[in-house]
Amino acid sequence: MLSNVIASQAVHMQYGGVIPELASRAHQQNIVPVVDTALKNAGLTIDDVDAIAFTRGPGLLGSLLVGVSFAKGLSVAKHIPLVEVNHLQGHILSHFIDLPDEERPHPDFPFLCLLVSGGHTQIVRVTAPLEMEIVGTTIDDAAGEAFDKCAKVMGLPYPGGPVIDRLAAQGDADRFHFAKPSVQGFDYSFSGLKTSFLYFLRDRVAEDPDFIEKNKADLCASLQRTIVEILLNKLVKAAREYKIKDIAIAGGVSANSGLRNAIQAEGEKRHWRTFLPPLKFTTDNAAMIAVTGYFRYLRGEVSPLDVTPEARIENMLGEEHRA
Ligand code: KG4
Ligand code: ZN
Repeated sequence: MLSNVIASQAVHMQYGGVIPELASRAHQQNIVPVVDTALKNAGLTIDDVDAIAFTRGPGLLGSLLVGVSFAKGLSVAKHIPLVEVNHLQGHILSHFIDLPDEERPHPDFPFLCLLVSGGHTQIVRVTAPLEMEIVGTTIDDAAGEAFDKCAKVMGLPYPGGPVIDRLAAQGDADRFHFAKPSVQGFDYSFSGLKTSFLYFLRDRVAEDPDFIEKNKADLCASLQRTIVEILLNKLVKAAREYKIKDIAIAGGVSANSGLRNAIQAEGEKRHWRTFLPPLKFTTDNAAMIAVTGYFRYLRGEVSPLDVTPEARIENMLGEEHRA
């Protein structure tokens, strides 16, 4: 990786969630300066570039359209091949981003990756850079959504995950107990926890209107412990079932310090090699898209100019969904 520029969108904070229309407008404003800065930081010009990787999906259509259209324009103007990338593969393959001044260990194949983001919660078995299968997935909310929605109930700003993480550090994680799901196999569910949290607060606030304010840290710590326990429980089960000891986490929620500590501790107990992405590669970033595009480019997988973005891609590779 020679450079990695991220334009965060502060605009969503004041609305308590991502407004798709505002997200795509912000992308439109940011994309030219961000690409320009990325090239400058790398000490390159566009003529040094061999391929342009872009996110085809899954994601918000308006935002994807900005990236796809920009990538196409650049590809045509400069005669540079286009390579489509699946956003979720990008998160997983962030473990293969190499840095010029730092040796990074990579997981060996096959490895299991717990992919936890705002939109997805999956256990993925990865057998080669572009060969992967989902062995478990959430049947309702994603883990990031559980963090964000519960944060909203407590009146915390969006995105709630990092705020809960910070407040949890000062709280008692065993103070409160919330419902944990019982779901078959390696699948997850988070909607019951969200409802349990909501009802619990509603009852307590009825008795004491300042309940949330007085107990914020303990609430965050207890909620975070519950989410982490749910996540780890199935991951441990899957690792045992598939007899895999290289275990990675990826996605925005993999920044969570409770999850990182718990995975590390569990790994030591079970003799796993655990792979925690550096924080800069946990939330959405371009480097993970670039490294995935690199693997595809090596296999000669170049996209046609009529490629379209896809908001939902069920298949990990997304190939079936080409119109
Ligand atoms: O991967 P990501 O940047 O975007 C998606 O593809 O969804 O993930 C965003 C999610 C949000 O739900 C956010 O609250 C969560 O990641 N997140 C965290 C932390 N940092 C980001 N959740 C818990 N603890 C954190 N430290
Ligand atoms: Zn993401």
